[in-house]
Amino acid sequence: MNLTTPTIRRRVAPVARQVAAIVGGGVIGGGWAARFLLMGWDVRVFDPDPEASRKINEVLANARRSLPGLSDVALPAEGTLSFHDTMSAAVAGVDWVQESVPERLDIKHKVYQSIQAHCPPDAVIGSSTSGFKPSQLQEGAARPAQIVVTHPFNPVYLLPLIELVPSAVTDPATLDKAKKILTDIGMYPLHVRAEIDAHIADRFLEAVWREALWLIKDGIATTEEIDNAIRYGFGLRWAQMGLFETYRIAGGEAGMRHFIEQFGPCLEWPWTKLMDVPELTDELIDQVADQSDAQSGQYSIRDLERARDNNLVTILRGLKAKDWGAGALLNAQDRRIDGAVTLPDDLSQPVVTVSRAVPLDWTDYNGHMNEARYLQAFGDATDRMMALVGCDADYIATGGSFFTAETHIRHLDEVHAGARIRIETQVLLGAGKKMHLFHRMFEDDRELATGEHMLIHVSLETRRASEPAPQVAEAMARVAKAHAALPVPQGAGKAVGVR
Ligand SMILES: NC(=O)c1ccc[n+]([C@@H]2O[C@H](COP(=O)([O-])OP(=O)(O)OC[C@H]3O[C@@H](n4cnc5c(N)ncnc54)[C@H](O)[C@@H]3O)[C@@H](O)[C@H]2O)c1
Repeated sequence: MNLTTPTIRRRVAPVARQVAAIVGGGVIGGGWAARFLLMGWDVRVFDPDPEASRKINEVLANARRSLPGLSDVALPAEGTLSFHDTMSAAVAGVDWVQESVPERLDIKHKVYQSIQAHCPPDAVIGSSTSGFKPSQLQEGAARPAQIVVTHPFNPVYLLPLIELVPSAVTDPATLDKAKKILTDIGMYPLHVRAEIDAHIADRFLEAVWREALWLIKDGIATTEEIDNAIRYGFGLRWAQMGLFETYRIAGGEAGMRHFIEQFGPCLEWPWTKLMDVPELTDELIDQVADQSDAQSGQYSIRDLERARDNNLVTILRGLKAKDWGAGALLNAQDRRIDGAVTLPDDLSQPVVTVSRAVPLDWTDYNGHMNEARYLQAFGDATDRMMALVGCDADYIATGGSFFTAETHIRHLDEVHAGARIRIETQVLLGAGKKMHLFHRMFEDDRELATGEHMLIHVSLETRRASEPAPQVAEAMARVAKAHAALPVPQGAGKAVGVR
């Protein structure tokens, strides 16, 4: 008898992709390019810098190792990146133009003239500007209504916030289109309703930056001490609740009103120098730069970027597990991509129950997937198979579920962070209270691991084995019957032993 199960190759029909033009491909333009590409858009870049292609590909490499694994489902297939020598070739027929040229109004105005001479009138033209108001950007434009501020945060491929700022003349249809597209590519468009210099977020950053420069100038703290004051304390609170929700808790049971009464008067004390800006003398600049070298000079910028991305992915995935803040946004994006959970019509092959990238926080000291994560991935595959036969959250709420009674995992080949893994599940038995599953994990055609699990249906009331509801029993039996025609997979029924 043939003991091996043939690997399934699926044909993916070509899809018409949406196209974004990136005008200015530096730090921020590169991040936008990566975000669009990894969300399935084709990206065309226009940047006169001969180094633009190298720089963008370096940003893209960092994005590829961090963004896909943030998601618990497979992102769309990556789009195509191209570089263009003329504006017309870059922006003709595109759906979105993202302008990320240097922060100078004269350069931005010139660039809009060239963009609008060649791009479709219904494309969104978003500007990454950190400080200009949209009405300033629109001055002298051929179609001012087409231009909005879409202010991102570095790294654009990981951080979801976009400050979306229209002016009084921005076309509402452009605004709606921008909101939809930004949401589709996994971002959170914060509609800034009144245009203002530096929007909302950069106002805070400026205030904190000013205070920090004073603390250094006055010899109170070094760059490292200031960073420690942020990252070991309030920075962690801000990352998950922001300012007001945090202060509400700080007010105790009496809440926000009590907090303001208690701490509000301090605002009038001379704690801060917010109205006063330290002069950026050569001496102060040297002081900041030297302290920063002492603090972080042992790392290259690329090392620091990777450390930043590792940390951000770990924090974001922690928030995801709690369905809170930026983590709740990521979960909503996964649900949008994942769609309805239904059994495929064709059950003649094992069912794909997991398709995802291995996230950065799943790797161990050897640089490959941590042992415990194999079980997590197979557990996710089991959860998906349960949902596919009707044992979903609604069913579980009625008091029935499956508990895993036994598991056997075989590690066949290495798996690294960023690998796109797929789990194919064969139902070896699906009758009465028992569901016997065999999962095979692949990267492309390379088999990485197998997981065999025996599940028992239980009543959540008695916590004892019980018969599943008829619709679950029927679906489980249907899959098991179809899969009975498949060869028994290699390794099924094996125990740990000496070869
Ligand atoms: N760096 C940040 O943290 C940050 C964050 C949010 C927003 N922004 C905003 O993003 C924009 C770009 O900033 P950056 O940090 O990426 O700058 P950058 O200097 O890294 O990149 C600017 C790029 O624009 C290119 N360029 C210059 N003139 C051009 C032209 N006429 N046509 C096409 N490309 C041209 C340059 O060659 C360069 O590659 C600015 O408006 C800035 O305020 C920056």
